[in-house]
Amino acid sequence: MMRNLLIIFLLLFSSVLKAEGVPAIALAQVSIDPSDVASIKRGGKFFATNCMSCHTMVYLRYDKIAQEAGVLYDKMPINVASWPFGIRPPDLSLEADVRGDDWIYTYLHSFYQDSTRPTGVNNLLVPNTAMPDIVAPYQGTQVRVTEKGSSALFHAYQWYDLLVLDKQGTMTPEQFDAAMTDLVNFLHYAASPYEQQQHRIGWWVLGFMLILLVMFYFLKKEYWKDVKKHKK
Ligand code: HEC
Repeated sequence: MMRNLLIIFLLLFSSVLKAEGVPAIALAQVSIDPSDVASIKRGGKFFATNCMSCHTMVYLRYDKIAQEAGVLYDKMPINVASWPFGIRPPDLSLEADVRGDDWIYTYLHSFYQDSTRPTGVNNLLVPNTAMPDIVAPYQGTQVRVTEKGSSALFHAYQWYDLLVLDKQGTMTPEQFDAAMTDLVNFLHYAASPYEQQQHRIGWWVLGFMLILLVMFYFLKKEYWKDVKKHKK
């Protein structure tokens, strides 16, 4: 009995126990449209050209969207034995589920120049990250505003409160935000490829249950009619 209770307790609260606490800075909110296939494909193309040299996506559904975007299993660094600094870049197939859309969006915006790091950059969300600033050619380079607050308060700040662009890249800030939104949309799609179908089927299921509800209501009236007659 006690053991069963303990198991139920652990199942109920495992999500709470797993939570990693407050992120280092406030997460910016990305507004993706998971029904926008063109956006997902643009994000996929960006991933294929800029991220796939390091990151695999082994659990991706290799459908038409992935093929047209050029995110293909044979092009991924599956069997690379040694990585710089000994850190293997994590697989990103389920990243949007693990970290969340906002987290990825914020991470990709939060790189800044730091000459003390081997990569020359640091990241506000993942301090001392091993990932180089891959988006710098597009976003440009950012520097940290040093005078702002103490690190204990950073979780109340957005990345743009703590960083300034010192050299713009090939994109304007608006274009870069749009490109990162597409990229996050692609990663979101990769982690939940059936979401759109599920939503569509969900409405049919609700409609079906509504019809059943009406039918059962009249059926119930029909049955109880006789019962009431008997009582009299
Ligand atoms: C040169 C190799 C390289 C490239 C290219 C690269 N990354 Fe990374 N990335 C890494 C490494 C290494 C890490 C692990 C960082 C760490 O844990 O400190 C990482 C970590 C990440 C993480 C965080 C994973 C986590 O949950 O901690 C995300 C998200 C990510 N990369 C996305 C991207 C995206 C999107 C692109 C393309 C725009 C990209 N990366 C391009 C090497 C790379």
